[in-house]
Amino acid sequence: MKSPIKVAVTGSAGQIGYALLPRIASGAMFGPDQPVILQLIEAPVEKAMKALEGVAMELDDCAFPLLHGIVLTDDPAVGFREANWCLLIGAKPRGPGMERADLLRDNGKIFTAQGRVIDEVAADNARVAVVGNPANTNCMIAASKAKRLPSDRFTAMVRLDQNRAQTQLAKKAGRPTTEVKDIFIYGNHSPSMFPAFAQATIGGKPARQVINDEEWLRGPFCDIVGKRGAAIIAARGASSAASAASALTDHVHDLVTVGAVHSVAAKSGGAYGFDPEVWAGLPVRTTAPGSYEILTGHTMDDFAQSKIAATNKELVDERAMVAELLGL
Ligand code: NAD
Ligand code: LMR
Repeated sequence: MKSPIKVAVTGSAGQIGYALLPRIASGAMFGPDQPVILQLIEAPVEKAMKALEGVAMELDDCAFPLLHGIVLTDDPAVGFREANWCLLIGAKPRGPGMERADLLRDNGKIFTAQGRVIDEVAADNARVAVVGNPANTNCMIAASKAKRLPSDRFTAMVRLDQNRAQTQLAKKAGRPTTEVKDIFIYGNHSPSMFPAFAQATIGGKPARQVINDEEWLRGPFCDIVGKRGAAIIAARGASSAASAASALTDHVHDLVTVGAVHSVAAKSGGAYGFDPEVWAGLPVRTTAPGSYEILTGHTMDDFAQSKIAATNKELVDERAMVAELLGL
């Protein structure tokens, strides 16, 4: 048996946290032979900490063999101490009629403070995955506070968008999701994101050829994927939680699985014409547990380039909105 890793999770008593923690403790995220110690961080609010106690009681009641300890805290310096993975979920969700960027004012501050503390107290090999919205820009804010941890340790989640796109292609083609490969998300976790269908395959053939409906791919497909979060809020009265927890499980699982090819939002470094300083959804290959390389070889036609330019502009605008938090 391996020695346990420490996994810090913020917003642990929230909707996503509730759906996520059993998946970490069961081995779905880090594998069936990797024990974990969960370091659960909540806001310093009595109601949230009380709810967290209930969540921990339920985790105990699952008797997960891989769960070697639970820490409950409202102090980030305790929760992130020696953490190998920091999963940053705790933040306000949007309500109906809001865009995710509307959350920047409130949520940006959380990631400023947490980025600093993680850099001070987390393990030397710490990796950070950001879910709280607007995820790309919050991730950039947290990374900007780190002096010790390099920026490629910080990724934000666009995997929910990738999974959504995969299912929409499968449904349209009338094929199982397992047949859909190489569908990647470029840009912001917002309606401007670009699910790049030109590289995708279904049953080993180009998705374009199988679907044979360019108008649908360029229009409704991009729209459904980009606006799926809002559709869920309209239907459920609350933002996605089970699917977000599942996507974060996939995000981290693939980041610790050497050879996995998947989408994460990472510091672009100028790939595909993105501003080098923004965190953009990009295709990556995992090169070692927790490390990845950006796949830069995909050809973009005029349509794809215009979509990337639009989502890049939004990321650059968000960056300007938080210039003060970034210390620019
Ligand atoms: P929620 O309101 O159910 O839970 C959020 C939890 O975070 C609450 O328990 C709250 O007390 C806690 N929290 C707030 N500030 C905190 C802090 N400073 N430290 C620690 N905990 C803190 O919300 P949710 O539905 O779980 O969503 C959480 C975030 O994830 C939202 O911003 C939402 O928009 C985002 N989200 C992102 C994606 C994605 O694909 N990137 C998908 C779904 C939701
Ligand atoms: C989602 O995509 O479901 C989440 O980001 C929640 C939201 O605000 O849309």
